[in-house]
Amino acid sequence: MQAACPHPAVYAGAVRVTGARYRFLAGALGLACALLAPGARAARPFEDSMAQRTLPCTVCHGPQGRAAADGYYPRIAGKPEGYLFNQLRNFRDGRRHYGLMAAMVDPLSDAYLQEIARHFAGLELPYPPPQPPQVPPAVLQRGATLVRDGDPARGVPACMSCHGAALTGAWPNVPGLLGLPRDYLNSQLGAWKTGERRAQAPDCMADLLRRLPDDDLAAVTAWLAAQPLPADPRAVRQVPTRAAGPMTVACGSAPELGGRAP
Ligand code: HEC
Ligand code: HEC
Repeated sequence: MQAACPHPAVYAGAVRVTGARYRFLAGALGLACALLAPGARAARPFEDSMAQRTLPCTVCHGPQGRAAADGYYPRIAGKPEGYLFNQLRNFRDGRRHYGLMAAMVDPLSDAYLQEIARHFAGLELPYPPPQPPQVPPAVLQRGATLVRDGDPARGVPACMSCHGAALTGAWPNVPGLLGLPRDYLNSQLGAWKTGERRAQAPDCMADLLRRLPDDDLAAVTAWLAAQPLPADPRAVRQVPTRAAGPMTVACGSAPELGGRAP
C-alpha cells in the first residue's frame, strides 16, 4: 500500500504561516518523503542504508534521533522497537497528532514502519545529563514515592511496575522514563490527560493519569528528570515484576504486561 508522496507544496501550505525558516523545512520534508519511499531505492546513486533513508527524520529529531536541544522534538534513538512502531502507527492512525510528521509516515506500510522502528531502536547513544531539580525536597520525595509505589488508595500503579525497576523501559513495548527533559514529560503526560495523545485501547496511561492529581504529576516529572541513567541504560528484556500492588489498569499497546481493564 505504497501511496505517492504529497507534493512539497502540501508541506509548504502546512507551514506557510510560520515564515521563511520553515519554508526550507517544507522543501526538505517533500524531499524526505521521496527518499523514504522504498520504491525510490534503486534510483538513488548514494549509499542505501536505513541511516541514510531516515536522515530526514533527524532534521527534527536531532542527530541520529537523539532529540533536539529544546526538549520539544523527542529522542527516538534507543527507545524499544515495539514502542516506536506503535507511535508511528498512532500518528498514522490519528491517535497522536503532528501534521508535518504524519504527512511523512502516512503513506508507509506497517512493514516499513517496523523497519524504521527497528533502526532507531538499535541505536545505543549517550543520554543527556539529568536536570537539576527546581522543586523543594518534599515534592521530589513525593515524586519518588509515586514512581516506586504508586498511590494504592487512588488505584494508581507504580510507574516501576511497567517501566521497570531501573525505569529504562521493558522490551518490546514499554519506553524508559529517564533521560527525557521535564518539559517533554509534562507536555506528553498533559496531552495524554486531555486526550490529545492516545494509545491503543485500553489506554493504561490515560486511565492512570485520570487518577493522578496535577500536583502529583508535577512531582513525578520533577523527580524523573533529575535522575541519572543507570550504567546499563537499555530497556530490560523481560516483563517487569510488579513493584507494588495488583495491576489496576490494562495496556492495549503492551498486552504482555497483563493487568485488568479498569
Ligand atoms: C517536522 C519535524 C519532524 C519530522 C521531520 C519527523 N518528526 Fe517525528 N516527531 C516530531 C514531533 C514534534 C513529535 C512529538 C509530537 C507530539 O508531541 O506528540 C514527534 C514524535 C515522533 C515519535 C514518537 C516519539 C515518542 O517517544 O513518543 C516517533 C517514533 C517519531 N516522531 C519518529 C519519526 C520518524 C521515524 C521520522 C522520519 C520518518 C520523523 N519522526 C520525522 C517531529 C518530526
Ligand atoms: C500499567 C502499565 C504502566 C504503568 C503503571 C505506567 N506506565 Fe507509562 N507507559 C506504559 C505503556 C504501555 C506506554 C507506551 C504507550 C504507547 O504505546 O503509547 C507508556 C508510556 C509512557 C510515557 C511516554 C514516554 C515517551 O517517551 O513519550 C511516559 C512519559 C510514561 N509512560 C510515564 C509514566 C509515569 C510517570 C508512570 C507512573 C506515574 C507510568 N508511566 C506508569 C505503561 C505504564
